[in-house]
Amino acid sequence: MKSIFFTRGVPPRESIPVNALAECARAVIIDEGIDILQYAPAAGYSPLRELIAQKKNASMDRIILGQGSLQILDILLHCLLHSGDTVAVEQPTYDRVLTLMRRAGLRICPMNLGRDGLDLDNLENKLGNGEQIRLIYTIPDFQNPSGMVMTLEKRKRLIDLASRFNFYIVEDSPYRDLRYEGEAFPSLFDLVPDTTIQLSSFSKLICPGLRVGYAVLPQNLTKTVTHYAEDTYINPSYLNHAIVYRFLQNGLMEDHLVFLKNLYGMRLKSMLSALDKNMPDRCTWTHPQGGFFVGLWLASNDGPALLERAETQGLRLSDGRGFFVHAGENFIRLPFCALNEEEIQEGIKKLAQIIHP
Ligand SMILES: Cc1ncc(COP(=O)(O)O)c(C=O)c1O
Repeated sequence: MKSIFFTRGVPPRESIPVNALAECARAVIIDEGIDILQYAPAAGYSPLRELIAQKKNASMDRIILGQGSLQILDILLHCLLHSGDTVAVEQPTYDRVLTLMRRAGLRICPMNLGRDGLDLDNLENKLGNGEQIRLIYTIPDFQNPSGMVMTLEKRKRLIDLASRFNFYIVEDSPYRDLRYEGEAFPSLFDLVPDTTIQLSSFSKLICPGLRVGYAVLPQNLTKTVTHYAEDTYINPSYLNHAIVYRFLQNGLMEDHLVFLKNLYGMRLKSMLSALDKNMPDRCTWTHPQGGFFVGLWLASNDGPALLERAETQGLRLSDGRGFFVHAGENFIRLPFCALNEEEIQEGIKKLAQIIHP
């Protein structure tokens, strides 16, 4: 029996533009040779920083490139916070971020994502009662793992709370450009560009293996973060930055994005129709218009038992508890991009049978 992997939150093999990247890599090494193969300043390859700065309408010194955006988040947690400080996260949230926060000794305050999104009443109550939250980590667009998008009202209210109670907002937005239908809300960075820390990445837009991610930082943080990065790894891979830059400069991104949106949009539709057709009424799930994930909530706390039952049917699921600080037994993340439509249909049918035998 061939297994179906609902554990795979990664771009599929067929999404990676191998030939175009090979040409970019060759051209970069031939044209720039020593300059990109030598040690270099820690903030990353200037032409790519400049291009991102133009897109963000920010000065270039506010852009730091890293080896993936997750690494920059790790640096930020160490630069901005001390062990024992309190940070807020959406619950559920990206599991690796919980690991980074735990490893940095931070106290994690989970804010539930309910049917209507992030519970800001709870956050405001906590802040009003003296909770010293130093930073909130949020994924407002096509959240990992739930697929949710934060409403405009909530974006504005979160910004208001951050300015009243003086905490950093870290907006992680690797899925924002992967919208298959509907209109985008302004990002938190668009709404308050001077103070929001925005992270993003080319992992989902080109490929994860180049490890090119970036942060747009408030001006007053750039020196500290860059020094910390330099002390950690001297400089990130200029070669990889330059390959991404070539890809963008050669105008390859526009067509590639159309290709990705078509491919993933069809897979998302297939996932939502399979859920509608097969899932018992008592389960609820998100209906995202983009990204990589649909979040499924079970009517009971059967998740852990389901993992084992799923394995016997050739279905691999992630343990929902990994995305939660507390609980998560009733949550399943359903990544749809790395499965073809046949696998999605068959996988959801099997999952529904396991949930409701
Ligand atoms: C929300 C979120 N942030 C960051 C990352 C990792 O990005 P990068 O490959 O740039 O480190 C992921 C990858 O799954 C993600 O879902």
